[in-house]
Amino acid sequence: MHDTPSSKTNPTIVLIANPNTYRGKSFARAADRLDLHILWAIDIPEKLASEWNMSLSVDFSNHDESVATIVDLANTNHVVSILAIDDSATLIAADACKLLGLPHNSPSAAVAARDKFVMRQRLLSSNILSPKFKSFQHNANPEKIIKRISYPCVLKPLLLNGSRGVIRANNPTEFKTAWHRIRNILSNSVGTHIMVEDYIPGTEVAVEALISDKGIKILAIFDKPDPLIGPFFEETIYVTPSRLPQEDQLEIENTLISAARALGLRFGPIHAEFRINEQGVWPIEIAGRTIGGLCSNILSFGSVLSLEELVLLQASGSNIEKFTADDRSKGVMMIPIPKRGILRKITGIEQAKSIAGIDNIEITAKLHYPLHTLPEGDGYLGFIFAYDKSPSAVENALRQSHSLLQFQIESEIMLEQIK
Ligand SMILES: Nc1ncnc2c1ncn2[C@@H]1O[C@H](COP(=O)(O)OP(=O)(O)O)[C@@H](O)[C@H]1O
Ligand SMILES: [Mg+2]
Repeated sequence: MHDTPSSKTNPTIVLIANPNTYRGKSFARAADRLDLHILWAIDIPEKLASEWNMSLSVDFSNHDESVATIVDLANTNHVVSILAIDDSATLIAADACKLLGLPHNSPSAAVAARDKFVMRQRLLSSNILSPKFKSFQHNANPEKIIKRISYPCVLKPLLLNGSRGVIRANNPTEFKTAWHRIRNILSNSVGTHIMVEDYIPGTEVAVEALISDKGIKILAIFDKPDPLIGPFFEETIYVTPSRLPQEDQLEIENTLISAARALGLRFGPIHAEFRINEQGVWPIEIAGRTIGGLCSNILSFGSVLSLEELVLLQASGSNIEKFTADDRSKGVMMIPIPKRGILRKITGIEQAKSIAGIDNIEITAKLHYPLHTLPEGDGYLGFIFAYDKSPSAVENALRQSHSLLQFQIESEIMLEQIK
């Protein structure tokens, strides 16, 4: 399937993805619209991949083999770029690109943007604001750790995302409970360490950017207007342009530039989060990927291009400097999962869509499937998208629309009774 005459000459972009990514459709649509040839390398068993006859099978848990598979593919195809569309394969992409001499972040930068402990270590060696942090084996005894840290603190796994396993603890008792919860999460996901860092108070923003040898191009600064004070940190509303004063936004941009330099990031998308307080701008995390979920749907550049189109254009060697973000006020709400259980019914979608400013609502959770809340869960019920005359009008439209949605979630206790 990969060795046709056209694929040898056709410039091809390899996109590496997790099978349950939210990001696949947006990238596939972007490639289609740009008429770019892409090949998917997906973390699925080989048999499944060949039955579907549509993608290359890679096993993310076997890093070297995944890199070798992709490098082999490049020997029979004219591969011009390799991109991981979410966190899980950024290192595979970086290693494969290095071997093939393709533009990408170095493997060392990819690790720093992937592993939260390495990120903190690199940031510490520059003069960027940094909380105190320590990393421990998850099978360490928390009794021995509780005296070595200050409170409030935040415990987090090193390699997960979407706030999974991120828990604030205000005292030793909460610390121990959080520790055991994260240890359980790690028993069936990636990583063996738990990082503990000082809690950073302040307002939070997310920044979307692209980096190249021309520097950092900020695509959007999103305010996160819901308070994120813990114990869990559920993402909800993102609104852009930011309502922060220009000088704060400039400081965010400068901190991102310094942080990207400290991590060694050089090429491709960056999704970063910062907290701002009277001491300045504190990086929470810097990742070498685009914004998660379906949030990018609200962004457009040069009035026609999607974020994914911009990323693919850059990857295929085009100059993207001329494309600027449109300046409409816009926002997205990641619809939080209110409780654990089985999703049975959703009502109110039409009313919620009819609120002025609401552009669309996409429900991504499947009916009759279990829902898990944070800190164990890793999904949303769906996404609400809005455009309006000002950031506050966008925020109000999202809140009003969300209040009209009803989710019927059958609790697990009821299921127990049925059994
Ligand atoms: N040190 C911290 N102080 C305050 N809040 C934090 C801290 N670390 C994480 N958080 C909160 O938890 C959220 C998720 O943490 P983050 O490190 O970004 O992990 P993830 O990769 O899961 O998004 C952040 O967006 C922030 O709101
Ligand atoms: Mg984050």
